[in-house]
Amino acid sequence: MKVVVAGMGYVGLVTGLVLAEMGHEVVGMEKDKKKRELLRSGIPPFYEPHLEELLARHTEVVYPDEWGGWGACADVIIVSVGTPPLPQGGSDLSQVRALAQEIARAGIGKETVIINKSTVPMGTGGWLSREIHSHMKGQRFLPRVASCPEFLREGVAFYDAFYPDRIVIGADRPTTRAKVRMLFEKIEKQNFEPPPTLERATGKRGRVPVLETGLESAELIKYASNAFLATKISFINEVANICDAVGADIGEVSKGMGLDARIAGRFLRAGLGWGGSCFGKDVSSLSHQAAERGYVARLLQSAISVNAFQREKAVQKLAEGMGGVRGKRVTLLGISFKPGTSDLRDAPALTIAQKLIDRGALVTATDPVALPFAREEGVPFSLVACPYEAMEGADSVLLATEWPDYLDLDWDRIKKGMRGKLVLDGRNSLDRAVVEGAGLRYKGVGR
Ligand code: UDX
Repeated sequence: MKVVVAGMGYVGLVTGLVLAEMGHEVVGMEKDKKKRELLRSGIPPFYEPHLEELLARHTEVVYPDEWGGWGACADVIIVSVGTPPLPQGGSDLSQVRALAQEIARAGIGKETVIINKSTVPMGTGGWLSREIHSHMKGQRFLPRVASCPEFLREGVAFYDAFYPDRIVIGADRPTTRAKVRMLFEKIEKQNFEPPPTLERATGKRGRVPVLETGLESAELIKYASNAFLATKISFINEVANICDAVGADIGEVSKGMGLDARIAGRFLRAGLGWGGSCFGKDVSSLSHQAAERGYVARLLQSAISVNAFQREKAVQKLAEGMGGVRGKRVTLLGISFKPGTSDLRDAPALTIAQKLIDRGALVTATDPVALPFAREEGVPFSLVACPYEAMEGADSVLLATEWPDYLDLDWDRIKKGMRGKLVLDGRNSLDRAVVEGAGLRYKGVGR
């Protein structure tokens, strides 16, 4: 099929390359000139494992400056532009709106299906069809729109896109759903030759379940899935805080809970809470959409407030452990919102650093991949590439992102360079015995 993917962010670029791998003819539309040039040269515009390799495998993918005739000859157009949060909690749809105009101006075929992969409020699919229609010149028909939410995680984005747990296809007409299903047929049947470094995990061989739904249900499935996962994390963080109060160990508690198949063990890791581009934005947006329709989503609001408190609690623990914050030196190990990505959006480390700075601390941070991105953003603290150097003279160290690089550090060497003794393991990922064995003071989250 001829596929135009509009928006070369995480979702769009990964989806486009995976569809190219499935043998589709892919065109990547991107507004940012710098990004287009990088992509044409095969240079990843952001860090994501396997991205460089997939770009090299698919040099046939084009990244044109203009829509030209691409829309008119496309079988499908995938919408994967950003839908950032608005201050009141809703979603900013200006990029989707601008794209609708561009699609209408460029012209589309009667059979072209617009597939929405951006996370958009319920009802946007229908609105998008009407919006494109209102800008169409000459022949006017109501464009066919489907919602096909994307569930990929940063850091393992390609793995998730090749081997998803499910494919959700929402559209009002069965023929529209059938066309989208055809696009993902090889993924559904898992009958493709995987790229050499992206083999299927054993046990993931069968067909991928496909769920066909109405448009609004598909849109809500995306929000509800992210909100559930975020709530699960907030739940375990609340239990971790109770562990701190009663002297229990959250590692043991979450293991004991996760062995119940109804609860399941994944996403039960306590720590500094969730960050990233999706959870915060989507939980707020879902709560906001409910409120707009007169429903108060109390559980979602609590999940948000527990998550915000988790960052504050880390600052409180550092303050308690150092006897105050003013004038103290704190080093953050890791700044990206999770390992495997350079993404700094809503990263707990950034909020914690700002809180510490506001209370008079001197903050230094290190990260194996995010430093250039942090520099570009102009973060208000020092950035040091070498973790050992970053911890020189520190009163305390906070493991903010559990990068593998930080899990087997030489704590004897670190102890010699530090001024204080406190190590706060914000991700419960360090070996307590090793840290304490070096003569340092270990604190975790609920352990
Ligand atoms: C998430 C969803 O998982 C994915 O399906 C959706 O498409 C996009 O949003 P992502 O944001 O890339 O993916 O990362 P994810 O691995 O889900 O982690 C999100 C945050 O939760 C991270 O900050 C992570 O550190 C935190 N987390 C995750 C925990 O604190 N505890 C856990 O047990 C799991």
